[in-house]
Amino acid sequence: MTDSATQAEVLQLRTQLREWNYRYYVLDDPSVPDAEYDRYLRQLQGFEEQFPELVTEDSPTQRVGSKPLSQFSQVTHEVPMLSLDNAFDATELVDFDRRLRGRLGEPDLAIEYSCEPKLDGIAVSLLYRDGILERGATRGDGTTGEDITQNVRTIPSIPLQLRGDGYPQILEVRGEIYMPLAGFDQLNRRALEKGEKVFVNPRNAAAGSLRQLDSRITAQRPLEMCCYSVGLVQGGQLPPEHAAVLDCLHRWGLRINAESQVVTGVEACEQYYESLAERRDSLPYDIDGIVYKVNRLDQQSRLGFVSRAPRWAIARKFPAQEEMTQLLDVEFQVGRTGAITPVARLEPVFVGGVTVSNATLHNADEIERLGLRVGDFVVVRRAGDVIPKVVSVVLDKRPGNSRAVEFPSHCPVCNSATEREPDEAVIRCMGGLVCAAQQKAAIKHFASRRAMDIDGLGDKLVEQMVDEGLLENVASLYSLHKDQLMALERMGEKSADNLLAALAASKDTSLPRFIFALGIREVGEATALNLARHFGSWPELVAASEESLLDVDDVGPVVADHLRQFFDSTSGMAVAEALREAGVRWPDIEIAAESVLPLSGQTWVVTGKLELMGRNEAKAALQTLGAKVAGSVSAKTHCVVAGPGAGSKLAKAQDLAVEVIDEITFVALLEQHGEKK
Ligand code: IVH
Repeated sequence: MTDSATQAEVLQLRTQLREWNYRYYVLDDPSVPDAEYDRYLRQLQGFEEQFPELVTEDSPTQRVGSKPLSQFSQVTHEVPMLSLDNAFDATELVDFDRRLRGRLGEPDLAIEYSCEPKLDGIAVSLLYRDGILERGATRGDGTTGEDITQNVRTIPSIPLQLRGDGYPQILEVRGEIYMPLAGFDQLNRRALEKGEKVFVNPRNAAAGSLRQLDSRITAQRPLEMCCYSVGLVQGGQLPPEHAAVLDCLHRWGLRINAESQVVTGVEACEQYYESLAERRDSLPYDIDGIVYKVNRLDQQSRLGFVSRAPRWAIARKFPAQEEMTQLLDVEFQVGRTGAITPVARLEPVFVGGVTVSNATLHNADEIERLGLRVGDFVVVRRAGDVIPKVVSVVLDKRPGNSRAVEFPSHCPVCNSATEREPDEAVIRCMGGLVCAAQQKAAIKHFASRRAMDIDGLGDKLVEQMVDEGLLENVASLYSLHKDQLMALERMGEKSADNLLAALAASKDTSLPRFIFALGIREVGEATALNLARHFGSWPELVAASEESLLDVDDVGPVVADHLRQFFDSTSGMAVAEALREAGVRWPDIEIAAESVLPLSGQTWVVTGKLELMGRNEAKAALQTLGAKVAGSVSAKTHCVVAGPGAGSKLAKAQDLAVEVIDEITFVALLEQHGEKK
C-alpha cells in the first residue's frame, strides 16, 4: 500500500512532466534542460515500479510503446473524415471564392478564411473522453480506419490527458501526423549506416512508422501531430469560428500550426500563398500546399458538402516535389579524384519548380539499393534547392526491354582501368592526371573561389582550354600567353587581359588556400586550415611523418595516408614545385598557441538556412577564428548561429540556455574580428 504522501508526490511529478512536455512539444518553448526532465521522469518511473498500483494509462511514463499487436482492429468514424478539393492555380481559387459568395447569397461579401499549411503526412483522428485519450485512428477510406491507439500514445506532442478545463465530454480531434525533416534525415542516416532500408520521403517515413504493429518501434520515430479540425463533439460547446476552435485545442494541450492565419477576402488568401510558398523550403517540415477554410461555422454549415469533400474548404497545391519519369540511360562522370559517379539521364520532367533531366545516382550501392534498371520509370524528388534525386523505382511500370546498369571497366574519358577499393562504395579511374576529366575537375577546383579564387576562370573556359591542349595541370595556368587565350572562341583582348591579371593576382595567396587548392583527396577547407596552422610552412608540412600528421585536428589515418601519398608522388610534388616557381607565394604562419585566436577553445553550431553566406563559408570563417564547429548542440556549445528553418538544434540550445545569435549578428561579429563575409 502506498501512503498519501507518495500518491501526492506521484501526482505532482506527473503534472510537472506534462507541463514541461507541453512547453517543449506543443508550444516549442522548452522551459527546462533535458537532464532535468529526465530526472523527474526517472523518479516517477521509480515510484511506479515500486508501487505498480499507482500506474495509470495517462502517466507520462506510458509512452514507450507496449507489446506488439497481431493486427490493427477497425474503427468506424461516426463523423466521416472528408478529403479536400484542389485548386491548382490562382484562378481556380478565385472561382472557388466566387462560387461560395454566390451560394451564400452575398455576392459582395469578403469571406473570412482560415489559411493553413497543408502538412504532408497522415490524417489521424484522436478521441478524448472526459479529457483522456481513448482512441487514435487512421482516416482509412474516411468511414472506416484502423485503430492505432498504441502508436499515437507514443507521440510526445499528443497529450494523453487534455489540459485545463471546458473541453467537451467527447471530443474527437483531427490532424496530421508527420515527420519533421531533421528527424527524417537523422532516421535515414542511421538506416544507411546500418545498411537498412531508407525511406523515400518524410511522408512515407511517417506512414511506415504509424503502421507498426509494434508500438515500441513507433516510439523511437520522431513523429509529431498538428491538429486542424474536430469531428465528433458531445457534451460541450465549441466557439462559432474555426480559428477559435483551433485556439481551444491549443489551450487544451494540442499542437496547432503556428503559421495559420485568418484573412479576409480571396486576395489576402493569394498573398498568404505567395508568402508561404517563398518560405516553403525553410520550414522544418514538408508541406504540399495551403488549405483555405471558411472561418465562420454558420457559413460552413450553410455551404455543406459534396460527396467526399466540404464545399467550404479547398487545398491550393504547390508545385509537386516528386514526379514520375523514365530513366533513359545511365552515364558516368569522372570527378576530380577519379571517382566515377553514375548520373541518371531522365526524360525531362517538371518537378520542384524546375525541369529536371539529370539526377545523381551516387554510386553502385545506391543503384543496387534502388534496384534500378535502364528504361525504368522512377520517382524523382527535388525539394528546396537540393539536387534532384531518384528516390524509387515504379516496378509496376517496368518495361519488358529494361536492362541492367553496367559499370564501366574502363574510364569513359581516358580509357584507363577502373578499380573499386575494398570497403569503398566508389569506383575510380586509375588514370590520374592523364585523364582529361580529372584534369578539368582539378583545375576547376584549383580556380574556385574558396581555393585560389581566380576571377573569370569558369568551368566552360577550363574545359575548352583542356580540350584545346592548352592546359595539362594547374601549374600550366601560370604560363598561359595572351595570344593563346585570344585564339580561344569567344575570347576578346579585354577578357584575355582580365584573365591574365586575375591569374597574376591569385599568386598572392595563403598557405591554407594553397593546400586546399591542390585537391588532395579528403583534404577539405577545414583540414587544410588545420594543417597550415599546425605546421606553419609548406616544407614543414611536406616533411611531416604520417605520425605527426595524425596529431593534427581532423586528420585520421585515411587523410594522413592521402597526404603522404601526395607528398611522396613525383607528379604531385612536381606540380606543387612548378606553382611555387611560377610565383605562387604566401606568408608562413606563426604557429600560434591555440588560445591566441579570438574564438579558440569555443565550440559553435550553425543551423537553419543562412541567407547572406553559405553554411560552409560560415563554418570556415568560424574555424579561421579558432572555433570548433560541431554538428550537434550540447552543454559544451558556446554559441549557435540559427537561420530560418532552424529546428531541433535551436530548441536544444534554448533548452540548455546556450547563446543563440542570428545571421546578421554573426556577420557583424565576423567583421569585428576582421573576417569579412
Ligand atoms: S482539413 C474537411 N486541414 O489533407 C477537411 N486537411 O486532402 C478535411 N491536410 O486528409 C481536411 N493539412 O490529411 C485539413 N490544415 C489542414 C490539413 C489537411 C493537411 C491533409 C489531410 C486530409 C488531406 C485532404
